[in-house]
Amino acid sequence: MNTSKIALVTGGSRGIGKDTALSLAKQGINIVLTYQSKESDAQATVAEIQALGQQAVALQLDTANVPDFDAFYAQLTTTLLTTFGAKRIDFLINNAGSGLSASFADTTEAQFDYMLNVHFKGVFFMTQKALPLLQDGGRIVNISTGLTRSTFPNRAAYASVKGAIEVLTKHQAQELGPRGITVNVVAPGAIATDFSGGIVRDNPQVNAHIAEATALGRAGLPSDIGSVVAFLCSDAARWITGQRLEVSGGMHL
Ligand SMILES: NC(=O)c1ccc[n+]([C@@H]2O[C@H](COP(=O)([O-])OP(=O)(O)OC[C@H]3O[C@@H](n4cnc5c(N)ncnc54)[C@H](OP(=O)(O)O)[C@@H]3O)[C@@H](O)[C@H]2O)c1
Repeated sequence: MNTSKIALVTGGSRGIGKDTALSLAKQGINIVLTYQSKESDAQATVAEIQALGQQAVALQLDTANVPDFDAFYAQLTTTLLTTFGAKRIDFLINNAGSGLSASFADTTEAQFDYMLNVHFKGVFFMTQKALPLLQDGGRIVNISTGLTRSTFPNRAAYASVKGAIEVLTKHQAQELGPRGITVNVVAPGAIATDFSGGIVRDNPQVNAHIAEATALGRAGLPSDIGSVVAFLCSDAARWITGQRLEVSGGMHL
């Protein structure tokens, strides 16, 4: 029987989720990560985690599609037993998702519904359905965005549904406190990943604009975020719950 704790990281194949999975693995935690379509990226991340000496497995999941979740958790239950000799997970990191660049005036209902499903409804029911599998004393970390506090053009739908998980986080913390489960939300600033077509990383004007608007003088990197999520999953963070932690290098202070 493996005694390492286990984290489920949605969207752990790339970007912030990948760095989170690696940061947790460096703390001796085994990882189940999910991906939507990029299986090879997911398997590459699994290999990196294994190279750190931890166990890892990648499962496919569309976190925008709630009807898939029961089958996913059935698969996870089997995987926990066969891969880790375990019945429960200790940490749930709700990270998966994509962006939307559309003005408030032009956002379509289909675009709105997708943002709602992937960033709010999906997170709500992923977590609800995880509860029987989550250890008492476990941790939940939801990934939001700095755009719930300050604005950027064409992010109304995306930022609004992220705002919803910040409210949800507080209510979850209240309700799950009796089980010793902490629930916090990490709000990254602009991070150089594939997100939104890689605009923060690949568009020099956008990158320079963000650097100017940031106290620490540069755009964020995935490696600025995963370690903070890992901290919230560590024993040192046991008395933090219901909190929003912005990790933006001081963007738009
Ligand atoms: N980058 C930023 O500037 C920034 C800032 C603040 C907050 N965030 C938030 O941080 C989180 C991760 O962003 P990122 O920058 O790391 O993005 P990324 O590099 O584009 O990675 C997105 C990850 O989410 C997965 N994913 C996307 N849609 C999914 C769906 N419908 N179902 C399941 N998995 C899905 C992807 O899987 P595949 O690899 O299979 O496609 C991938 O693992 C998101 O919630 C995002 O809103 C990002």
